[in-house]
Amino acid sequence: MTTSITLPSACDFHLHLRQGEMMRMVTPQVAAGGVSLAYIMPNLQPPITNTDMALKYKQELEALAPQVTFLMTLYLSPELTVDEVRKASKAGIAGVKSYPRGVTTNSDAGIENYEIYYPVFKAMEEEGMVLNLHGEIPSDNNKNICVMNAEEKFLPQLEKIHTAFPNLKIVLEHATSEAAVQMVKRLGDTVACSITVHHLQLIVDDWAGQAHHFCKPVAKYPQDRQALREVVASGHPRFFLGTDSAPHPSHVKETAHAHAGVFTTPLVLPYLAKIFESMGALDKLENFACHFGRQFYGLKQKEGFEDRKVTLVKEENIVVPANYQISSENPQAGAVVPFLANKDIGWKISQ
Ligand code: NCD
Ligand code: DOR
Ligand code: ZN
Ligand code: ZN
Repeated sequence: MTTSITLPSACDFHLHLRQGEMMRMVTPQVAAGGVSLAYIMPNLQPPITNTDMALKYKQELEALAPQVTFLMTLYLSPELTVDEVRKASKAGIAGVKSYPRGVTTNSDAGIENYEIYYPVFKAMEEEGMVLNLHGEIPSDNNKNICVMNAEEKFLPQLEKIHTAFPNLKIVLEHATSEAAVQMVKRLGDTVACSITVHHLQLIVDDWAGQAHHFCKPVAKYPQDRQALREVVASGHPRFFLGTDSAPHPSHVKETAHAHAGVFTTPLVLPYLAKIFESMGALDKLENFACHFGRQFYGLKQKEGFEDRKVTLVKEENIVVPANYQISSENPQAGAVVPFLANKDIGWKISQ
């Protein structure tokens, strides 16, 4: 029986670290979860729309977690010109995240028509920058579009962008459906998926009525979760970890209109060990969490601290904390309830 496994520190290719006191609480938790490289989402208030903002944000994050490499992204908006793409690329900005308008947290500035951005995508393709797609279209009652099929209905748009820019690296973020898995497999080497911890675990029954499991895109049918588990357990190199850990204070989750987001950062590798063990695929964890994402993004060199090893130990009574206090000075800020709070996850990172 496996009681411990040692692997390189992991890469999280989709992470929300927020700003202000939330950022100061969450950012030091990245390394605690066994992660040494994190790909940072730009949906702040206001969104990170240019290189200077991204570099300033990066400095703030590095000051809070010097042992983590932060790869930065820009929020796709009309402010993003071809010149700005060139500037961002020179400054080491790794990608551009596109949010459809109004679909999720702070996406009011999102986009509706992708074609107006084709000159930007062309420049990104030339520069080797990655396009990170939040793959959902807005709900529309007249067209029978709702959160359960919003991702599947987005897929033709993914194919259209890929066909127009076959060499542009595209990541369909936080894939949740069997249809998405099939499409991304079919589109070939320049198209990949990030997969979250929680979407390997949850289905619709788990978030209907349970605010702490509510996220966008929502978890879907058992058959969809099965497709995610199978592609990951098969060791497919274009499906890799991007947690979409998205902390919100509990008072905006436990309310009539719950905010979308699941918080997994402090325990990313222990959660994954539990899930991969239950799938009988512990031997696939390292590639999924440590190597496949780097390969897709073409990251060859490692910083010294990225060579850190992490040992996961299987033990009874590894109980997830009930919550994480956002600020010790400001109790008003509240707390964040993590994924599987108060549950025994059976794995921990040995200190
Ligand atoms: C806010 C924050 O900074 O914590 N979010 C954000 O910037 N995206 C509050 C929130 O979590 O909604
Ligand atoms: O659940 C989500 N929360 N999905 C997203 O795409 C955004 C995120 C957030 O920022 O809270
Ligand atoms: Zn998203
Ligand atoms: Zn996200």
